[in-house]
Amino acid sequence: MTTLTNESLCALAMSEGRNWMPFTANRLVNGRGDHRVVASAKGPYYTMADGKTVFDTLSGLWCTPLGHGNPRIADALRQQAETLDFAPGFQMTHAPAVTLAARIAKMAPEGLEHVFFANSGSEAVDTALKIAIGFHKLKGEGGRFRLIGRERGYHGVGFGGMSVGGIVPNRKMFATVMVPGVDHIRHPYDHAHVAFSKGQPEWGAHLADHLERLVALHDASTIAAVIVEPVQGSTGVLVPPVGYLQKLREICTKHGILLIFDEVITGFGRMGENFASQRFGVTPDMITFAKAVTNGIIPMGGVIVTSEIYKTFMNGPDAAIEFAHGYTYSGHPMAAAVAHTVLDIMEEKGTNAAVRALEPILEEEVHALQDLKSVKDLRNIGLTAAIELNPLSDKSALRSVQLFERGLEEGVLLRVTGDTISFGPPFISTPDQIRGMTAQVRKVIISCEKDF
Ligand SMILES: Cc1ncc(COP(=O)(O)O)c(C=O)c1O
Repeated sequence: MTTLTNESLCALAMSEGRNWMPFTANRLVNGRGDHRVVASAKGPYYTMADGKTVFDTLSGLWCTPLGHGNPRIADALRQQAETLDFAPGFQMTHAPAVTLAARIAKMAPEGLEHVFFANSGSEAVDTALKIAIGFHKLKGEGGRFRLIGRERGYHGVGFGGMSVGGIVPNRKMFATVMVPGVDHIRHPYDHAHVAFSKGQPEWGAHLADHLERLVALHDASTIAAVIVEPVQGSTGVLVPPVGYLQKLREICTKHGILLIFDEVITGFGRMGENFASQRFGVTPDMITFAKAVTNGIIPMGGVIVTSEIYKTFMNGPDAAIEFAHGYTYSGHPMAAAVAHTVLDIMEEKGTNAAVRALEPILEEEVHALQDLKSVKDLRNIGLTAAIELNPLSDKSALRSVQLFERGLEEGVLLRVTGDTISFGPPFISTPDQIRGMTAQVRKVIISCEKDF
């Protein structure tokens, strides 16, 4: 273990690029040494290898809302490892997975009653897309093969999720191998109409009608499912206009198309309800989840489906496998045990209510940055927010590196993508920590304004 954490070995391995890092400018990070290495974490703070402590403004990657280093979760892991560390999930199961599925179904909107486990958001999304295709085939509508995503959507990096995703740089290298038959509706963001909205913009419900145009173009009989994030997270917190998700629901229902809400970010409290679906009062046919369900401590994802979908699959000879799909680690007992503890803690702490109490504070704090000259837009909903800066054509990438690095110096770990800084602080944050975060961010932006 000593050798694994030895600092000089770490530096050597970095300089050689041994760890090819995901979604990373590897050469840049490897050249930064200690500056970009995290050593430990406690509560809403990380400690970097150079000793600096930084506030976790995005709850990891939207996944650690209870903060870090919770001893109860560590205990749950140890106890489960001592009781049942692994069991095959094919043709058998175990109590942690079965009871967790029942618990998650109970937390979900009415009608969503069965859970299929995966290990990540990407796997959850690909599972949901395959369920949609299988569902229609089993109902004798095998012609429904099209999947509709949305511009600027992020649904992970599997072939399915990548294809329905709409973040252009993620697609470019793989444009030739996208899943066939996929199309995208337009995203619901229009700066001219919704800039500086607090919560849901009033303008824009009509943009959901774009789905009708795709239905007309392709014919409903060829479309299996529409997948959207209720709030588009990775592209920089795009909040659905009032009535927009309701319209998508109506159009899908009218044409027999399944509606999938990708709640990998919004699930388990980020919107002040168990699921964003409950916050917005719109029930999809499937919900994908991951991240917060285990507080990011051990990978887990899944899909919650309606009983109609589940029953459609539960057909044919009793001994036949109904859905030829699954992962070695689906419903992993360690992940399920952690998820139970995480949900216990969320219930006891009342994190949904905590998010609702913090939401107006985050809103006020973020919108107070409107006076900064480089700010183009500010938006927020639940315990999420985004600051969009004026684009700098050829210098945006350089500025985003500088924002990140100045953030570390100032004491905040920032998630900067292009011209946008996104926020999803831990649910356990105090109002003062939220205020401290935005004060630090103000300093970082002002400092970068001097250079760009
Ligand atoms: C909405 C959404 N779907 C899917 C994913 C992919 O999840 P993972 O990285 O766990 O595969 C993400 C990740 O951020 C996400 O935000």
